[in-house]
Amino acid sequence: MTLILAHRGSAGTHPENTMESFKAAEKAGADGIELDVHFSKDGEIVVIHDNTVDRTTDGTGYINQLTLAELKKLKANYHYKHFFNKASRIPTLREVFEWLSGNQLLCNIELKNSDQPHEGLEDKVIELIKEFNLVTRTFISSFNHYSLVYINNQYPEMETAPLYNDILYKPWEYAKTLGSIGIHPKYKVITNEMIETAIENGIAVRPYTINKEKDMKRFIQANCSAIITDYPEKAVKLRAKI
Ligand code: G3P
Ligand code: CA
Repeated sequence: MTLILAHRGSAGTHPENTMESFKAAEKAGADGIELDVHFSKDGEIVVIHDNTVDRTTDGTGYINQLTLAELKKLKANYHYKHFFNKASRIPTLREVFEWLSGNQLLCNIELKNSDQPHEGLEDKVIELIKEFNLVTRTFISSFNHYSLVYINNQYPEMETAPLYNDILYKPWEYAKTLGSIGIHPKYKVITNEMIETAIENGIAVRPYTINKEKDMKRFIQANCSAIITDYPEKAVKLRAKI
């Protein structure tokens, strides 16, 4: 069965990467969530997509130049304020894990370390995963494939998957050279034949970000391991009909 992973939570209908968005994904019947992590200035792991807070909150500045206390003052649902009475805050990864401990959802953690170093992020994220006993329910992805090689060498118990957005020749073989057992391609660069061969080779295929019903249908019918979508509710309903 193709799993449904909620991209930044239910980001199509809720403020991305917030607890509201993750909880909505659970309510929608998603199998798991995808989220993005950065280090704050004082070394806390925070869940937010961009390098800055400008697009998603009422603040400005680089995340790695703001302390957790400063980040927590910002309204993470600023651009959705008409739909929510209370300000929602940028979650820490710890807060998400506390919530995950009370359910059975999977969690795809994307390390946002491809255009800034975030030195030591891999170790800190994995330390937290272990603290919460979430090794079997989490998998780590990144556009920084060196970072995944580091994880695969240091923590072979962790599952990783490279993110990529261009056509890749035999991506299942590429994943194996990294030591990964999954691939997370942009949905436009993966064919049904590639999906089939990757899965036959023991490589999970979880394309992103699939929001149109016709694309969801294509990947579910192709027996993809999972799809990553902003609209988990739509995907769950569609899957039930296929
Ligand atoms: O993990 C899939 C997807 O989230 C990667 O791209 O930019 O949405 O983080 P982005
Ligand atoms: Ca992401």
